[in-house]
Amino acid sequence: MDSSNRPHGVGADLSGLLLDWYDRAARDLPWRVPPDRSRAGERPDPYRVWLSEVMLQQTTVAAVTGYYLRFLARWPTVADLAAAPDAEVMAEWAGLGYYARARNLLKGARAVAASESAAFPDRYDDLIALPGIGPYTAAAIAAIAFGRPETVVDGNVERVVARLFAVTEPLPKAGGRLRHLAASLTPDKRPGDFAQAMMDLGATVCTHRKPACMICPLGPVCQARALGIAADLPVKAPKPAKAERQGLAYVARRADGALLLETRAERGLLGGTLGFPTTGWTAAPPDPAPPFRADWRQLPGTVRHTFTHFHLTLIVLTADAPPGANPDRGSFRAPPDAPPGSLPTLMRKVHDHAFRNESVVPDAPSPDSLAKTGATDT
Ligand code: ADE
Repeated sequence: MDSSNRPHGVGADLSGLLLDWYDRAARDLPWRVPPDRSRAGERPDPYRVWLSEVMLQQTTVAAVTGYYLRFLARWPTVADLAAAPDAEVMAEWAGLGYYARARNLLKGARAVAASESAAFPDRYDDLIALPGIGPYTAAAIAAIAFGRPETVVDGNVERVVARLFAVTEPLPKAGGRLRHLAASLTPDKRPGDFAQAMMDLGATVCTHRKPACMICPLGPVCQARALGIAADLPVKAPKPAKAERQGLAYVARRADGALLLETRAERGLLGGTLGFPTTGWTAAPPDPAPPFRADWRQLPGTVRHTFTHFHLTLIVLTADAPPGANPDRGSFRAPPDAPPGSLPTLMRKVHDHAFRNESVVPDAPSPDSLAKTGATDT
């Protein structure tokens, strides 16, 4: 951003007010250099900033912290992550969702490790040129790890800015305007702390449902507060209803306890993750696609899972695999090699459903009748 856009007037007051608040109230987060050390010039490791920001997209601080610490303990540097086998990274990511993020993390780590400097570049334009790093992450690394005056806009920041400027235009249409307004507030000094202060304010004070305007450091300059409409902003355009899809999942267990699991195709939902073989997930009842011939038994009930754009209902079929079973996909793995915790949430639900019900006599609707009867949430 050129210097004529640097905050002045309200913008300068506002970033000052916010940074003063951050100096007193910043959350203590494991990837963060706290404000007193940041003011003294200490910068966080860009690898840690990158890892935390990728994990935090679509997810809360509470959900991410354990994953972040485990990743860092296992792969302390970008070179360590670059050298990690894909399957181990996917297994460590299991349960965090949006698995494309983990695949992109690996791509980004390998590109950085293979670059001439083997280090993260320090400018937005070079960061965004890396595979798997988008505008949000490039801005976050540039601002937080390198002190560049880039503007970091996530859902929290959009909410804070919509209220500060009383923007009533609905999202996502208002996104460009909110980004522009956020950029007009970003200071040259401490842009990384400013970005994190905006996020903390959105997460702890300027919250979605009941904004705590009485204790907000920006209350005196907030237009939505003055108009009494803070809780109504940002306005969001109604989302289309989610579609329904269905599929069959096949759970096969050998006498030695090994389970048939396959790595899903790189492209597509849950790409690159480990799971039980399934049919496609379709609006119409799926054609059966068992991984080998056996006496497949349908379990009562179904597994329900919601993805970004649709709800999925899976019918689970189980079979005991004979010693010579020759599946046309996947391989048998002993539970210690592929514990349920290394499966994505959907597959963990399938696992739990299968083994919770293993002694129950099947008495369930056929796959064909599912669409008519509706699904049971498990
Ligand atoms: N959400 C996303 N990134 C964050 C950060 N750096 N600090 C706090 N909350 C965040």
